[in-house]
Amino acid sequence: MLRQKAGSTVLSLSLLAVFLAPLLAHSQPGAAPASAIEGKQVFVEKCTACHTIGKGKLVGPDLSGVTVRREDVWLRRQIKEPDQLIAEGDPIVMELLKESNNVPMVPLGLSDTEIEAVIAYLKSTEQQASQPAGLPSRYVPTVLISIAAIIVFTLIGLGAGNKKVDLR
Ligand code: HEC
Repeated sequence: MLRQKAGSTVLSLSLLAVFLAPLLAHSQPGAAPASAIEGKQVFVEKCTACHTIGKGKLVGPDLSGVTVRREDVWLRRQIKEPDQLIAEGDPIVMELLKESNNVPMVPLGLSDTEIEAVIAYLKSTEQQASQPAGLPSRYVPTVLISIAAIIVFTLIGLGAGNKKVDLR
């Protein structure tokens, strides 16, 4: 009885591992999505005159880390209608204006798709920047699969243990 139970647990856990492995492998953020590649083009054409990513302030602030320090909704508005944020007296933009000697960012007439793409690009640069800290995300699936394997082998071991007891 006990052996059968352990056996079916081992089976279901192995199945779980088999199904989880490809899922985890696919969720790696390493490769940039297609929109991030388009976004890079938009960035180079429309933003590099005033912004760098990690190379310091130009006319506007260095955009390194901007997707972490700002809300998504705010980012979208800042890129789509920076003049509106200024008109509303948005406190973040008022601070930024002080730092840029009151030179405002002008609306660039980007389409919503281009805005999404450029944000995806900015985010993809954050991921690269945050990789060295902690466990690199590409190792996470391996670690999880190893843990699953250890559980499975432990249960197999327990099953073998039960077998001996059964013999007596
Ligand atoms: C003419 C120069 C200019 C261009 C071109 C420009 N910006 Fe700006 N940007 C600024 C200035 C100046 C600020 C700060 C003052 C403000 O917000 O008006 C700013 C602020 C920002 C901020 C907020 C930064 C922070 O620290 O919160 C983001 C995000 C941003 N710009 C993104 C972009 C993107 C994306 C593009 C290209 C599509 C772009 N900008 C093009 C001048 C520019």
